[in-house]
Amino acid sequence: MKKHWWNDKIAYQIYPKSFLDTDGDGIGDLKGILSKLDYLKELGVDIIWLSPIYKSPFVDQGYDIPDYFSIAEEFGTMEEFDLLLNEAKKRDMYIVMDLVVNHCSDQHPWFQKALADPDGEYADYFYFVKSRDGKAPSNLRGYFGGSVWEPVPGTDKYYLHMFAKEQPDLNWENPRLRRQIYDMVNWWLEKGLAGFRIDAIINIKKVLSFPSYEPDGPDGLAFCTKMVDEASGIGDFLQELKRETFARYDAFTVGEVFNMKEEELQEFIGDEGHFSTIFDFSAHILTFGDHGWYDEKPLEFEAWRSALFQAQKEVQSVGFLANIIENHDEPRGASRYLPTWAQNDAGKKMLATTSILLRGIPFIYQGQEIGMTNCRRSDISEYNDINTLDQYKLAVEAGCTKEEALQCCFEHSRDNARTPMQWSAGPNGGFTDGTPWLAVNPNFTQINVEEQQGRPDSVLSYYKELIALRKSPEYREIFAYGDLVPAFEELPGIFAYWRVDRETGRRILVAGNYGTEAQVISTAPGAKLLLSNLPQSGTEVSSGSSESEQLRLEPCGCAVVLI
Ligand code: GLC
Repeated sequence: MKKHWWNDKIAYQIYPKSFLDTDGDGIGDLKGILSKLDYLKELGVDIIWLSPIYKSPFVDQGYDIPDYFSIAEEFGTMEEFDLLLNEAKKRDMYIVMDLVVNHCSDQHPWFQKALADPDGEYADYFYFVKSRDGKAPSNLRGYFGGSVWEPVPGTDKYYLHMFAKEQPDLNWENPRLRRQIYDMVNWWLEKGLAGFRIDAIINIKKVLSFPSYEPDGPDGLAFCTKMVDEASGIGDFLQELKRETFARYDAFTVGEVFNMKEEELQEFIGDEGHFSTIFDFSAHILTFGDHGWYDEKPLEFEAWRSALFQAQKEVQSVGFLANIIENHDEPRGASRYLPTWAQNDAGKKMLATTSILLRGIPFIYQGQEIGMTNCRRSDISEYNDINTLDQYKLAVEAGCTKEEALQCCFEHSRDNARTPMQWSAGPNGGFTDGTPWLAVNPNFTQINVEEQQGRPDSVLSYYKELIALRKSPEYREIFAYGDLVPAFEELPGIFAYWRVDRETGRRILVAGNYGTEAQVISTAPGAKLLLSNLPQSGTEVSSGSSESEQLRLEPCGCAVVLI
């Protein structure tokens, strides 16, 4: 496998709207990000991914873009962005932006021109498709509910939008559109951007006959991923995109790829792959319901562990995955992957350890490093996210009470991750002097950066130690490139694996106890404890035994041991 500059890096996702507001409008901004570069550097971050900061009507929080070349006023100016690139560079850090090119905003001049002349050149930048029997061309349901088709006013055509109706899908079959996209991507790379996180990219290939599918809900519609699954030939687009843009700049790219066919892993992230890496969503999809959040299945520890191991196994000889426990579309990892009784500092450190030391590029989402959690709301009006409003409605229509529907939102809402970053115990968690665009999680008085910064046993201090260990000159290679071999799968509640250096045979054991009973693991003579979250009582590699050494892990205990 070829080595790349990003193989051993630590990435961090910033959701700019909720990171830090410096001008009192209740919305985070670039100046806020600039002022926290040293904080991120100290944490050990190398690559910063910014969720969209382009000008936008924010129907889907910036994932609806009417102008790919300008910065949203709410966030700041292009000069500030250039300064950010510069300041990051000074610190040996890299900035990566979101690339949202499955769709744009309905405010984009391309779409406006298409509407003005539905038979003209720009209509072919989108999917303007003739109605069938006076109805929408097919029966697909979009990601945010309702039909993916919206009438084009004054015509017998509909346009396609797999997300909100304000996010019309771009027609990648049109070479002129593709050229415009490549020029735009190069414009940013030319500025010094290190790469992109590539949004919803699997959706760019459609089945052009736009068939209907077996309905899967009472609305008579079928979920649009059915078409995505059936579409073939996306590789040609992605190879061209790479060739025309990323490859010329040795850019780092991470794809948001759901619904990939298993055999395509090599094509996506092999040596000649479309992207540097893709996110591992294998754990996230485990609990998906058949109809929505209201029928999601509970997370089973063993299924979770084996999904992650399986993904690691598949990728090992192919490339690198990007590992996450949460992002701006998911609930908080600490609330999702830790059993209720383990949702404490020790549990959060354990979750950090077993996920950040996996093979792949760790992506930390803002606030994860202090253990931010899901946020309970008492009414749907307190939510902002378009997807949450749709899922709440779905739950109520399916017969849930208001309380049950709100419980679904508490467990699954994208707003759980979008509440403002908790910097201090001061007003609004130190996020803003104004009124935050989305209310701060009330637990900011206990969970905040300021409190944890000065405390050696805080979650934040532990993240710093963990990242420093992963990046230390001694262990950097093994954590970046070493194989991952699952271990002690027979022990209840134990999530453990070896990281093995193929050449030297050197091994590091990473183990966490997600169960309710203490467990004893046999290691080897001379084992050396590199890191542990319960140093006083929980984890010990005892000395004295000549044959084997014992590692005792209390519930929520974790350890990293060099053999
Ligand atoms: C991706 C983004 C999500 C957005 C969607 C449409 O899944 O992560 O936030 O709503 O694409 O752009």
